[in-house]
Amino acid sequence: MKKFLALVFVATLLISCLSACAPVTTPSTQGTQPPAESKLIRVGFAQCKADESDWRKANTKSVQEALSKENGFDLILADSNNDAAKLVSDVQGFIDQEVDYIIIAAVNADGWDTVLGNAKKAGIPVILMDRTINASEDLYNCWLGGGFYNEGVKATDWMGKRFAGGKQANIVHLQGQLGASAQVGRTEALEDAIGKNSNWKLLAQQTGEWSTDTAKEIMASWIQQYGDDINCVYAENDNMADGAIQALEEAGKKVGGDDGVAIISFDANRAYLQMTLEGKINCNVECNPLLGPGVAALINKIEGGGTPNKKESVDETAFYYDTITQEVIDARPY
Ligand code: AHR
Repeated sequence: MKKFLALVFVATLLISCLSACAPVTTPSTQGTQPPAESKLIRVGFAQCKADESDWRKANTKSVQEALSKENGFDLILADSNNDAAKLVSDVQGFIDQEVDYIIIAAVNADGWDTVLGNAKKAGIPVILMDRTINASEDLYNCWLGGGFYNEGVKATDWMGKRFAGGKQANIVHLQGQLGASAQVGRTEALEDAIGKNSNWKLLAQQTGEWSTDTAKEIMASWIQQYGDDINCVYAENDNMADGAIQALEEAGKKVGGDDGVAIISFDANRAYLQMTLEGKINCNVECNPLLGPGVAALINKIEGGGTPNKKESVDETAFYYDTITQEVIDARPY
């Protein structure tokens, strides 16, 4: 009996010592431990140009945050610097590395058949993010993004009100990088609306490559050429709208508001919504860059044996200089 009691004593002592030495984990820290490296899902992310614009920076960050090690992913970012051929070879590189998934934000809508055929043969699921491509739906698992043509329609609907009653619209058009689905959709919407409105005239159209500086230079040359005739700028992203506004202001022109040169922009990043509130941008159509959580959810769905829908659209809205408020901007996530 004495031996038994001694054994119980030693065992109790051991248990209390072990539990005292064990690391203290609170429920809130337990979830933040990344899974072992070998368990991480390896994802290749072919981004068109990670720091190209405010929109693209927010998009890159959103994917990096959602596909973090803590969330169970090993994300490999390849930045093509908006070089369409490099982006395709980045994707081929991911196939060669045998990653588990590939995310693509395509520079150009064309040129995907061969490399996506290779991904399919290798059994690597492909998720198209933001940009659409011209290829058979069999070659990818899912596309997640906004509707570029519909964004353009929101913008041209506003222009219809601004230039109502046959008022003449003399438009200059700053396009995104040519061949990108965002450019193609937004351009088609404008061209369709011009075709339907005999009082709308397209004075000039050129790519500003999504860039503030390039757009500013182009706008300055259009001001030289067309002067006060220009009364509407359709810029296919916030950065280019900003460049156009700078050129117009430096030339002493009034922008935005009720009677300045009408400025139409896309993306609706926070800084440019502030410019909308100031009246410099008249109509700013949202294109949501925060696609990372949606992409992570799609991968987790496939991991769980599910099949995502071929197309997953995100909701988008539009903001106008005469109705936006500071409260609306403050509540925005980007
Ligand atoms: O595809 C979305 C577009 O691409 C954004 O409007 C632009 O800013 C970006 O680079």
